[in-house]
Amino acid sequence: MINRNDILKAVKEIVGNHLDKKLIIAGNWKMNMTISEGKKFLTEMEETVSANTILIFPPYTVLAALSTDFNKQNIHYGPQNFHYKKEGAYTGEISIPMIKELGCDYALVGHSERRTYYNETDEEINKKAHAGVKSGLNIIICIGENLTQRQSGEWKAILKEQIKKDLAEITWDMFSGISIAYEPIWAIGTGVSASSEEVKETHAYIKEVLKDAFGRTVRLLYGGSVNEKNALEIGSIENVDGFLIGGASLKPDVFKRIIDQVS
Ligand code: 13P
Repeated sequence: MINRNDILKAVKEIVGNHLDKKLIIAGNWKMNMTISEGKKFLTEMEETVSANTILIFPPYTVLAALSTDFNKQNIHYGPQNFHYKKEGAYTGEISIPMIKELGCDYALVGHSERRTYYNETDEEINKKAHAGVKSGLNIIICIGENLTQRQSGEWKAILKEQIKKDLAEITWDMFSGISIAYEPIWAIGTGVSASSEEVKETHAYIKEVLKDAFGRTVRLLYGGSVNEKNALEIGSIENVDGFLIGGASLKPDVFKRIIDQVS
């Protein structure tokens, strides 16, 4: 049984306490959950109260079937991907008007799985960022390096490049609709998150790059093997404004415990 006070004490010694901040706690369900499974999840999440912002990115079917239920639970929701065009001959794609009709106010853009398996480029991600923000969606753009790039020290250049390309021509007034999720590819689904020192250094670096390039920063989430054992520690780190959680967001009891720990 995890003792919150012991963790808090240890965390304060390592990184100082920065939990007097409002976090975004986002669950990316990826290609998991049927409609009935999603319904069960939400029933079990009932009465979860948090001062933090809770988001879920389910598959499109769950999104369409359960939008009212998400609203009832005060959970924000949105798609894991969308096309930057409003309509047209793009087989298998989904447009912003289609998802906005469901009441979605958030959307993920550029997850590493989309970059890797579907060859999504920074140029496409940039088009999605423009289209998303212009339509009033809050978008979370995912960036991150792979293990070779981390080990070779190339990660700084990789992240800077992604930020510059993904946010190209984004103007000052559009920034309030944008968050970034730093998701080191080597930490996704591995059970081993980046260490507190790595998260601290990388988040500080990303915010510095944003400030240099655009004169301002955005909310910066961490993703990659976040779970109930490390959420409080990671959430307490300076420049961490929330989490993007994969596996641990699929079980309502685990997801709830993460929310409770940092609330
Ligand atoms: P895991 O939490 O399963 O490592 O996944 C992270 C992720 O990819 C969230 O988008």
